[in-house]
Amino acid sequence: MKKVITYGTYDLLHQGHINLLRRAKELGDYLIVGVTSDSYDRGRGKLNVRNNVLERVEAVKVTGYADEVIIEDYVGQKIDDIQKYNVDIFAIGSDWSGQFDYLNEYCKVVYLPRTEGISSTQLRAESTVDVKVGVIGCGRVANRFPDEASVVSGIDVCTAYDKDFSKSCEFISKHRIKFCDRDLECFFQKVDAVYIATPHLSHYSLIKKSLEQGKHVLCETPMVLNANEAKELFEYAESKGLILMEANKTAHCPAFNHLIVMVKSGVIGEVVDVEASLSKLWDDDMSLREFDPEQAGGSMYELGSYPLLPIFKLLGTNYQNLNLYSRMQKNVDMYTKGVFRYPHAVCSFKVGLGVKTEGNLVISGTKGYAYVSAPWWKTDYFEFRYEDQNQNKKFFYKWDGAGLRYEIQEFISCIINNRFSTARLRRRESIAMAGVMQQFTNRINFNEL
Ligand code: CTP
Repeated sequence: MKKVITYGTYDLLHQGHINLLRRAKELGDYLIVGVTSDSYDRGRGKLNVRNNVLERVEAVKVTGYADEVIIEDYVGQKIDDIQKYNVDIFAIGSDWSGQFDYLNEYCKVVYLPRTEGISSTQLRAESTVDVKVGVIGCGRVANRFPDEASVVSGIDVCTAYDKDFSKSCEFISKHRIKFCDRDLECFFQKVDAVYIATPHLSHYSLIKKSLEQGKHVLCETPMVLNANEAKELFEYAESKGLILMEANKTAHCPAFNHLIVMVKSGVIGEVVDVEASLSKLWDDDMSLREFDPEQAGGSMYELGSYPLLPIFKLLGTNYQNLNLYSRMQKNVDMYTKGVFRYPHAVCSFKVGLGVKTEGNLVISGTKGYAYVSAPWWKTDYFEFRYEDQNQNKKFFYKWDGAGLRYEIQEFISCIINNRFSTARLRRRESIAMAGVMQQFTNRINFNEL
């Protein structure tokens, strides 16, 4: 029996795919089709696939050409599969001509004619109306947004607003954005959604205004510094059928997501301790917004939401108490350590703008621990470690660019699919983060060092 194998994403299955599968099947007696897993596609930067892996597998099966469908999940798997399934012919469309010649060592490689004039990319483009997004606040933070958005499908960053008009002009020319608005009213008329990257204290009113105008909102972290405000805004957004999302890039980081689901599924037993740390030393320029108490400067507001994320994701938001310890300078915290008490666990975090810490994440469980080295908040790697070191396992993922593309993609996906909340950062987790900021502001269980 002559066995043929072929691979693809098979998103929005089209005639080109069907022709390819038919031709591949005609090469032999038995056809194996490898369909890429969702995480494999994300890992190779294909962030815009519409159908999930189950739908894509189903679509391939319905063609009737595949005798067996397998999932392609890692680089190099083709070689393994060819040997494992005793494959005689590897077939793929001619758009890949030459790229799989290295497989000739294992079986015959055939490039089949590709059907002209159709592709999943084209179908995705034709069926999407881009979500028009405007940027509010054209400073340092916003600068990363347009480039990252350019690799996500379904989004058109079309205008920018800053209360300093010259800044928005500079921003749009740098990023080749179509419009630039002097006043918010004109700005809102052009967009379906906004990305807010202004200083913390302006977030609440800008989110409120944007929602009142019927716009979806992605707001930089910390979204607000008060739990009631966060709750109110989420409820208001939902009542208007709008998406409100806090832009916490770590929450959408592929490695971080896998780490969380694996720990939650018990690979290190019951979690008893989470320690997360993040520090970012600035030059001694104390005139920066980050050090200005009037603009909610300081380590806690600036960095706190990142280490709070693994704690809330793994142990939930119902902690019994939280003690805060801060080193203050000119009324801002240059360093804060927080210790959470949970019924059966203790967690701590450290953030510093003026104190350097080892920026790692350690999750300790009853069977082993997870170790994520610095910078864990944008990691592409983590490790599970056990008493018996032979059981230790390392995991590697992809982290492209500045990493904002993952949160932008999720934001657009929430809008297109009418999902009010993302499992990657629950509304209750954002509210709890705002609650911690509020406790810090009110100096509750607060100890100055
Ligand atoms: N294919 C083809 N003719 C087309 C499109 C795809 O023969 N018009 C083949 C590819 O060469 C590959 C298989 O179908 O062997 C699966 O390709 P896939 O990458 O899933 O499809 P595309 O439409 O090329 O997807 P995209 O636009 O996302 O790259």
